[in-house]
Amino acid sequence: MSFSLVSALLFCLASANPIVPRNGYKIPTTSFDSLSTFNTYWAYDYPWGTDHNGAARMNSSQVAVGGGQVTLTAKPVTGQPATSGGIAINYLSGTIYAKEYFTVATGGGYEFTGDFLASTTLGTWPAFWLSGANTWPPEIDLAEWKGDGLVSFNSLGLNDVWITKDVTYSPASSFHTIKIDVKDADGTNVVSNFYLDGVLQSTQTGQGMVGQPFWLIMDLQMEGSSGSPGPTTTTTYALKNFSAYSYNP
Ligand SMILES: *[C@@H]1O[C@H](CO)[C@@H](O)[C@H](O)[C@H]1NC(C)=O
Ligand SMILES: *[C@@H]1O[C@H](CO)[C@@H](O)[C@H](O)[C@H]1NC(C)=O
Repeated sequence: MSFSLVSALLFCLASANPIVPRNGYKIPTTSFDSLSTFNTYWAYDYPWGTDHNGAARMNSSQVAVGGGQVTLTAKPVTGQPATSGGIAINYLSGTIYAKEYFTVATGGGYEFTGDFLASTTLGTWPAFWLSGANTWPPEIDLAEWKGDGLVSFNSLGLNDVWITKDVTYSPASSFHTIKIDVKDADGTNVVSNFYLDGVLQSTQTGQGMVGQPFWLIMDLQMEGSSGSPGPTTTTTYALKNFSAYSYNP
């Protein structure tokens, strides 16, 4: 075997898995240090407004930022009109989304990591997810808690096929570190690795996601997929030490 063939093989082996950092921090760990840093990277509510698929209506009044942490608080409320889709509103809560799209480029990807405090109580539906900005699908649920003691890691490719993994989440009263890397698998599909407290929980390949822009959303929805009735007292959902790192070329 010639030297050049050996080195070509070594290069292929080396480049098959790790992705080389090239583009840096899209959201640094300082984004929740102050309202000023927050406003640089994040906006309030959903990209499309205050309502979505559950019983919470979002309001910036329910978002607290400072000291490196964001806290979303849901509180029971009465007298709110239903959503346009006819869902009764029983809570005011908080949602934030990143001001920029996340698009896995050919040969690139992202790493998202942070420490989450999330409720698994019936009727509480905190989530941290990527939602297709041009079309839906695609979606990647970096973490979603549906009121059943579990955390869910999910991918929905452009082929409309869900890949799901539910894992015991305990204790819900403590912060847990969640890390997800999403990267170009083959020029077309995106492979995501989901880690909970440093342990790989699931590897999922989302069809057709390369080149698709995503919104990054942190929301504290209520009821809906997490069951009902939800709590009669406030619920909080917090995130600290969060960063989004780009490996895109
Ligand atoms: C949402 O927040 C704004 C400003 O904080 C406030 O004026 C408005 O009344 C709030 N909406 C609801 C439904 O509470
Ligand atoms: C913040 O997260 C990084 C990983 O992104 C970790 O190395 C570091 O120890 C964390 N810092 C704190 C204060 O938890």
